[in-house]
Amino acid sequence: MCGIVGYVGGKDCADILVDALSKLEYRGYDSAGIAVFEGDRIVTEKTKGRLADLTEKMKKGHKPSGTSGIGHTRWATHGEPSDVNSHPHGNAKISIVHNGIIENYIRLKAFLIDKGYEFESQTDTETVAKLLDYYYNIEKEPIKTITRVLAEIEGSYALGIVFADYPGKIYSVRKDSPLIVGLGEGENFIASDVPAILKYTRDYYLLECDEIATITSDNVTICDIHGSEIKKEVQHATWDIESAEKGGYAHFMLKEIHEQPTAIKTTVSPRIMDGMPFLEECGITLDMLKSYRKIYIVACGTAMHAGLVGKYVIEELARIEVVVDIASEFRYRNPIIGSEDLVVLISQSGETADTKAVLRLAKDMGATTLSIVNVKGSSIARESDFVVYTHAGPEISVASTKAYMVQLSIMYLLAFELAYANGKITEEECKALVSELENIPSKIEETFGIESDCQYAASTLVNAESLLYIGRGLDYALSMEGSLKLKEISYIHSESYAAGELKHGTISLVTEDMPVIAVATQDRLFDKTVSNIKEVKARGAKVVMVTKNTVDVTSDVADVVVKLPVVRDVLMPMITVVPLQLIAYYTSVLKGCDVDKPRNLAKSVTVE
Ligand code: AGP
Ligand code: GLU
Repeated sequence: MCGIVGYVGGKDCADILVDALSKLEYRGYDSAGIAVFEGDRIVTEKTKGRLADLTEKMKKGHKPSGTSGIGHTRWATHGEPSDVNSHPHGNAKISIVHNGIIENYIRLKAFLIDKGYEFESQTDTETVAKLLDYYYNIEKEPIKTITRVLAEIEGSYALGIVFADYPGKIYSVRKDSPLIVGLGEGENFIASDVPAILKYTRDYYLLECDEIATITSDNVTICDIHGSEIKKEVQHATWDIESAEKGGYAHFMLKEIHEQPTAIKTTVSPRIMDGMPFLEECGITLDMLKSYRKIYIVACGTAMHAGLVGKYVIEELARIEVVVDIASEFRYRNPIIGSEDLVVLISQSGETADTKAVLRLAKDMGATTLSIVNVKGSSIARESDFVVYTHAGPEISVASTKAYMVQLSIMYLLAFELAYANGKITEEECKALVSELENIPSKIEETFGIESDCQYAASTLVNAESLLYIGRGLDYALSMEGSLKLKEISYIHSESYAAGELKHGTISLVTEDMPVIAVATQDRLFDKTVSNIKEVKARGAKVVMVTKNTVDVTSDVADVVVKLPVVRDVLMPMITVVPLQLIAYYTSVLKGCDVDKPRNLAKSVTVE
């Protein structure tokens, strides 16, 4: 996820681009760059690092001087953060900024290399820049060139494009990545998000998929891929600047919860080929997957919880033993690992000290290491044998939500691939699972429909000093994450307990003052969990039950019921976690806590 901006007007463009980008740094901040028309020359300045590093570089070196150009703040997906991988990409004739992922870039790159093009970066974006150049040499006209390129590229993109032959003009197009066109007085803009333009104008167009905008200082035209002009309705932003950075949401956490469907799509779609999981791009082959004796999944906090769900799913589908452990424990318990084992490290930041230490230990002991990481070029990603990046985009809220969701997505893809490699499921069964995984984003959108039920459930918990989560199987694994979320941001003590284990001691805690959140989404275990719910009800507990919307729950079972859209049981955790996140969120809000920056915590734990 990156931020892109563009400006055409009468003022100093570099200053405006940098200012507008500063409102989008939440979208990415590993490198920054601008390309500005100095007359009919495109002059580019870019650097690895924050926007402040770009400003510093221009202060010491050259600040392009002109009144039109494009800018970018990057969250690397392809190629580590570096000067050469920073955007804009292009040559003296064409320059582009890109937000998104070009899924077929390997094939397009091979085609362009065959045509004599040389590549300098590892980005997917450079392929688009070169492809534009290739078609511009044929079409000699921007719109036709862009249309030819759109017919070739697959994936997601928001693009800002400038052609040296057309100074003072920006072309822009998008698919599955956001883009708006800001409408000012004698100046116009493009931006990934409204906050970037709010200081200059509140009027904008929302660009729809594959609409091509041509922007000059006094005119904006929009056409479809056949060149026919499209009339758009002007939108008017009413947000104040601060709330706009959160996209209108009260907190980053809520925004990130709502970004989960997109995060799954961006993470999963590049890993599917012909309906089957495709991790070969990350170097993971079926033969390799067949060869492991045991899989260890090691991580901390929320990332470890994603591993726990992974264990249930991999063992169930692929019938391979999986051991999950907390990194700070694993590293000091003289683990039994060797060259026959695969050690999977999960980390949003890629910098967590204990997880990093386990990675080094596992390598020393001869195991193969695979990391699942969100931050491109981070230590864990760089040092492991194989890396699968999650594409959640920057997660600002300390409480992890969308990162967990995409970690789960990769756990599922890995489980499907392992099950297929080991002959435990047929190609047809594998494709059916993949297709249901691809459908999860729309099911999550549906789940947002019960947000007010979650808010109500939270209102029944807000005065509790302590509460229990109970569940069995996948519901138990998932409740661990629900419980952590609640503790972390609402400061209410909670524990996740295997429902069948309660009566071996913990049930003595249950009174009318200890609410219980019971998660029951697994058909096979449903009746057993209901029996456990009855046991806590009999001791006076108020029960919030989270279950499927196909189930009838009577008031003698639960006091509050949160009902979920149904997918097959093995995939239910991806749906069920959403109300658990929302319940934690609303409890924190009702208690007046600092949701995004809970006390005593840091986003990235780089000390052990
Ligand atoms: C999640 O809400 C937490 N803030 C925390 O448990 C986090 O998941 C943990 O510190 C691991 O971080 P990592 O994914 O960056 O390695
Ligand atoms: N895929 C592009 C890159 O890695 C853009 C990244 C993004 O938008 O997240 O540079």
